[in-house]
Amino acid sequence: MSNKRIVILISGSGSNMQTLVAASQAGKIAGHVVAVISNKVDAAGLAKAQAAGIDTAVLAHGEFASREQYDHALQQLVDSFRPDVVVLAGFMRILTPAFTQHYHGRMLNIHPSLLPKYKGVDTHNRALAAGDTEHGVSVHFVTEELDGGPVILQAKVPVFADDTAADLQARVQVQEHGIYPLVVNWLCSGRLCLTADGAQLDGQCLGPHGYAAD
Ligand code: GAR
Repeated sequence: MSNKRIVILISGSGSNMQTLVAASQAGKIAGHVVAVISNKVDAAGLAKAQAAGIDTAVLAHGEFASREQYDHALQQLVDSFRPDVVVLAGFMRILTPAFTQHYHGRMLNIHPSLLPKYKGVDTHNRALAAGDTEHGVSVHFVTEELDGGPVILQAKVPVFADDTAADLQARVQVQEHGIYPLVVNWLCSGRLCLTADGAQLDGQCLGPHGYAAD
């Protein structure tokens, strides 16, 4: 079984990162997490990664004059851990084309909406404001377009009349923790790839909503 090297980028609480670390340590992912990197020194996920025995590093974006300079330094830091796969898990930065191209086909993101709906931030409030009756989460390949790369897998949740954004976030996160390890394992085990025709799983092209949706 392949055992790919995984680097995870976070900005906050790191619950998805924790789930991925636990899944890899339990043998459910054909890879192991070699480092967790944050752009925020106070990201709560850093301590959680350290507690799980994972190397951590911080690269604070405030110290760089431009997005290009930051991403160049971030790429050098990420590459110092020789990753096969890079996983964005609540990494709240817009990435430069140079950075996304460097990791083309080997970088994943999880986004808390049913893409292509609600790219960007504040997705739960936007779903509530629109009166949506369903909401969810998408895992996708990262490309130059913000939250616009090919979708691999989505999970839906219902929206109830009295829901707050916090209710929705909690409901969505349960699904996040279910689907992200699956997709990371697909990529690490060679079942998933990004082709000129989009994402493919086991040689089959995935549709606009990813695997087995609708
Ligand atoms: C997750 O809900 C993830 O979908 C979202 O940040 C949260 C991170 O939570 N990502 C984005 O909004 C990316 N645009 P976590 O730190 O507990 O994993």
